[in-house]
Amino acid sequence: MTTTPATPQPDQPRFPLQSLMEICLHLSAEQDLDKLMGKILNALLRVTRADAGTLFLTRPGHLESSAARCLSLEQRLGGEKAKGLFTSFTVQITTESVAGACAVRGETIVLDDVRSLPAGSPFTHNNRFDLENDYTTVSMLAIPMKNLSGSVVGVLQLINAGGGESPTPFFSEDIEIARAVASQAAVAIENARLTASLRAAHLDTLRRLGIAAEWRDKETANHITRVSLYSELLARGCGWDEDNTDLLRIASAMHDVGKVGVPDAILNKPGKLDFMERAAMEKHCIIGAGILGGNDDPVIALSCEVALGHHEKWDGTGYPNRIAGEHIPESCRIVALADVYDALSTKRPYKEPFSHERCVEIITEGRGTHFEPKIVDIFLQHLDEFLAIRQQFEDHTATAV
Ligand code: C2E
Ligand code: SIN
Ligand code: SIN
Ligand code: FE
Ligand code: FE
Repeated sequence: MTTTPATPQPDQPRFPLQSLMEICLHLSAEQDLDKLMGKILNALLRVTRADAGTLFLTRPGHLESSAARCLSLEQRLGGEKAKGLFTSFTVQITTESVAGACAVRGETIVLDDVRSLPAGSPFTHNNRFDLENDYTTVSMLAIPMKNLSGSVVGVLQLINAGGGESPTPFFSEDIEIARAVASQAAVAIENARLTASLRAAHLDTLRRLGIAAEWRDKETANHITRVSLYSELLARGCGWDEDNTDLLRIASAMHDVGKVGVPDAILNKPGKLDFMERAAMEKHCIIGAGILGGNDDPVIALSCEVALGHHEKWDGTGYPNRIAGEHIPESCRIVALADVYDALSTKRPYKEPFSHERCVEIITEGRGTHFEPKIVDIFLQHLDEFLAIRQQFEDHTATAV
């Protein structure tokens, strides 16, 4: 066995309450499951002064590591290289490993020295990691993380109390702290999973709302997808960060929900709209804003803004509010171009598709009148990507959604 000295630890009180408080705060604030796992693990290593640890989440039939660290290996190999050893690994839920056995039995397992498991031990230590990394696991602690109904949602495993150099058994205080954290972590994991699944359902519902609105318009879900992707491209080009770009990609899918309030005869009229029909059509912006209004959720609030303002024009001749320039929210200036490019480049009940060259020409003519100059320039810099999206999500006759 060879282990290099772990970072010398200054003397700490046996109950680093601050670290515990920190864990609790993280648990309540962090919604991102991966980040949450990393934070819990780091705090636990500090509190118990263990050299290594892994947080496993339960998947069907196996455990999957969602955070793992080994401090002495990080020191020996350098942080980046050591990280490479831990990119997601799995352990079967069987008694062939300590973590697996912990999940099978649903009980805490405390081992002072895994090298001398008693004969007839109901589980074995899987020493693959030790052999591959010239590491020696001595003391181990594996704690099941159970949700409120008692199912094991994960396993918390700590290795080599007191550091990698001269590991000691885990103290009972450490075990109690780790058990307390594990039971809180189980609840946080459940919440984060629930949040993720609610978010997915929420986004899916919003997308379907967008599709429903376009349904009678004889357009397909592809129209929604294209406008979303064009908007995403333009937002990124405008320097938006990834989070906001992502919000706009989703929110722009609902820009025309207000068309549910426009009669079929107008929506699908093969020819040019007369004055009254045009006025009825223009109401779709106000109707859309009404449908999406009054909600603080960032995606819904942004989609409301876009539904209201996507037909405003840079020179102030658009509708419904005839606002100009930077009075128009940037989200709307972006979706305006994305929407018109899509209308030009595809078939509508009232028009055939224009050629790519003609589309580019029409948009360029609108630079500074219909569209903000900067956004036209970004469009012109990304023509290949616009074309690629158009081709990938082409309309087909009688497309199923
Ligand atoms: P849409 O079909 O999605 O078109 C969105 C926008 O693309 C239009 O907003 C317009 O700014 C631009 N656009 C579409 N076709 C052309 C074109 O051939 N040339 C140029 N230069 N721009 C074009 P707009 O005009 O406010 O129309 C909003 C919506 O009203 C359209 O959405 C469409 O659903 C409907 N609409 C507009 N004009 C007609 C029409 O003549 N007949 C029918 N049936 N519907 C129309
Ligand atoms: C490990 O050493 O990280 C896993 C081995 C075990 O769970 O026994
Ligand atoms: C139009 O604006 O409807 C005519 C299309 C074009 O500009 O070529
Ligand atoms: Fe519209
Ligand atoms: Fe549209």
